[in-house]
Amino acid sequence: MKIGVPKETVADERRVALTPDVAGRLGKSGLPVHVERAAGQAASFDDEAYRAAGATVVATAAEVFGQSDVVLKVQPPSSEEIALCREGVALVAVFQPSAEREAVSQLAARKVTAFSLALLPRITRAQAMDVLSSQATVAGYKAVLLAAAAAGRFFPMLVTAAGTLAPARVLVLGAGVAGLQAIATARRLGAVVSAFDVRPVVKEQVQSLGAKFLEMEIGEHAEAAGGYAKQLSEETHRRELAFIAQQVKDADIVITTAAIPGQRAPVLITADAVRAMKPGAVIVDLAVETGGNCELTEAGREVVRNGVLLLGPLNLPSTLPQHASQMYARNISSFLSQLIKDGALRFDFDDEIVRDTCVTHAGEVRKP
Ligand code: NAI
Repeated sequence: MKIGVPKETVADERRVALTPDVAGRLGKSGLPVHVERAAGQAASFDDEAYRAAGATVVATAAEVFGQSDVVLKVQPPSSEEIALCREGVALVAVFQPSAEREAVSQLAARKVTAFSLALLPRITRAQAMDVLSSQATVAGYKAVLLAAAAAGRFFPMLVTAAGTLAPARVLVLGAGVAGLQAIATARRLGAVVSAFDVRPVVKEQVQSLGAKFLEMEIGEHAEAAGGYAKQLSEETHRRELAFIAQQVKDADIVITTAAIPGQRAPVLITADAVRAMKPGAVIVDLAVETGGNCELTEAGREVVRNGVLLLGPLNLPSTLPQHASQMYARNISSFLSQLIKDGALRFDFDDEIVRDTCVTHAGEVRKP
């Protein structure tokens, strides 16, 4: 049973699915790992480190795909990669099947058993495999650093010979995994932080990080099964927009992270609300890949509107590739232990972790 790790081919993707230490651990447990040359280079893991850990470094992606029983990736497989897959191989990556329709039918046609960790159930048993959480942690942290670098002011209060400087006011919208990490990071930099989320259950978590939780009467149950948010009714959303417009007026930095699984991200900051913000304020919209929380942010771009800087960064986890890969590798190796029993691939579709994440198997599309 061989595990293969190709070099990621998507532009600007610097992560790698397995780090040398995790590859070494798999090797010791009887699962030899083949890594494509330079697969970890952009994340500062060189070929020598993989060799030292006992992995085999091969020259081409074709060799990885040709020799592996399980292929581990970060980004969804390209059609060239799927064409290299052997029949019956298992492939694990992160993708939304609805956004990768062609790849999904190609995977089925090649009889690949493909799993997407984006579909992992958010249950306690799956926490160690939860790539969405580990990578959201990176995004939340990096969003604050981007904002701090772009802002024209300090984050902490400074008492200097040139007078006292007031601390930055940071507002975080959406206090899930990314939002909580953003709060913690902004607090460590000395900002005064407040946060809002439609799930009242996060109030205590926000407060425990030293931030103020902004309260609005939601008037409906905003939490779905599994701890995720639900889409709000039109009337509540309208009230939320008015509430947030009042809050962003005073903010120097706004980090938005609100998401609803499988749906477009909710708009939380309208163009009018941006117009009422202070000149020099910065918005970092982490939801830009799913439509954006701010009406005016643009995916992958930095734009200034009415004196407010709007950042719509893409794939932030890839900008911290060393730690992002380290967490990813641990997540994916923990997931592998669900698929491999006694040294052989066994797909237990009665197990919700295997069932929910499996996209194609034996020529069939299981997640249309
Ligand atoms: P997410 O990325 O889907 O959403 C981010 C945040 O946006 C959430 O806190 C959500 O409540 C908030 N949000 C959605 N609509 C909003 C709106 N209109 N206004 C303001 N905020 C809005 O969620 P994430 O961060 O992946 O996880 C959310 C929750 O899921 C966690 O706090 C936890 O309860 C649960 N979870 C459970 C796990 C497990 O048990 N394995 C792992 C990870 C998360």
